[in-house]
Amino acid sequence: MGINLGKSKTTPNERAAEDYSNSLRLLRPLADFFVVNVSSPNTPNLRELQDKAALDEILGALQQVNEAGKCGNDSQPSARPLLVKVAPDLSFDALDEILELAGKHHLAGIVATNTTIARPGSTDEKMLRVYSEMGGLSGRPLRKRSTEVVRHIHAQTHGTLPIIGVGGIFSADDAWEKISAGAALVQIYTGLVYEGPALVRRIVLGVQRKLEQGGFKSLRDAVGSSA
Ligand SMILES: Cc1cc2nc3c(=O)[nH]c(=O)nc-3n(C[C@H](O)[C@H](O)[C@H](O)COP(=O)(O)O)c2cc1C
Repeated sequence: MGINLGKSKTTPNERAAEDYSNSLRLLRPLADFFVVNVSSPNTPNLRELQDKAALDEILGALQQVNEAGKCGNDSQPSARPLLVKVAPDLSFDALDEILELAGKHHLAGIVATNTTIARPGSTDEKMLRVYSEMGGLSGRPLRKRSTEVVRHIHAQTHGTLPIIGVGGIFSADDAWEKISAGAALVQIYTGLVYEGPALVRRIVLGVQRKLEQGGFKSLRDAVGSSA
C-alpha cells in the first residue's frame, strides 16, 4: 500500500518541509511506500513546491525522518521508498531539475502525472462550461500529455528511475502506451470511476496479450520499448 502525502492547505509553503515530514513520521508504519504530492492543482500554491530549491528542502526533511530508525509504533524500522508526483504542466526543463534531485535524495521513482490545469479547445458550450471550472482535469484529455512526460523522464534517466504512469488510462491499450513509453507501473483513477473495478483484470489480460504478441519475455522488457 502506498500513501500520498500532501501539505495541509493551512500550512504556508515556507513551512511545507515540516508539514510533510510530520505526516511521514506519523504514517510511516502504515505504508509500504510514499508519494510526495507537490503537483495537485487543488491546493493553492502547492505546485510552487516543485521548484528545485523548495523540493530539495522537503525531500531532505522527509529522508531525515524516513531514514531515522523507528517512527511511532513502527515495528519495521526500515526506510520506505519515496516517490515524487509531478504535474503534466511542467516544462521539460523544470522536470529535469526535479530529476536532478532524484539521486541526492534516493528517490525510488517518479509518478507521472497529476491532473492538468490546461483545458482542451472546444466549441461545445456544455464542454466549455465544464472546462471553465476550477481545479485539475483528469481522464482522457490528459492521456497524451502524461505519456509525453513519462517518455521524457524515461529518456532523461536512461530507464534507471522507475516511473508510475498515470493519466487517462481506460484500457489495456492506454496502459500499454504508458508502459512502452517507460512506465514500470501504472495507476488508474478516473478510469476506475467510469469502467469499474473489472478494468484492472481487462488491463492485466490485455497487457499480457501484448507481451506475447510482441515477443517480450517479461513486462520489464517492454518498459520503454517505444521510447
Ligand atoms: C477527484 C480527484 C482527486 C485526486 N486526489 C489526488 C490526491 O489527493 N493526490 C494526488 O497526488 N493526486 C490526486 N489526484 C490525481 C490522480 O491520482 C491522477 O494522478 C490523475 O487524476 C490522473 O489520472 P486519471 O486520468 O487516471 O484520473 C486526484 C484526481 C481526482 C480526479
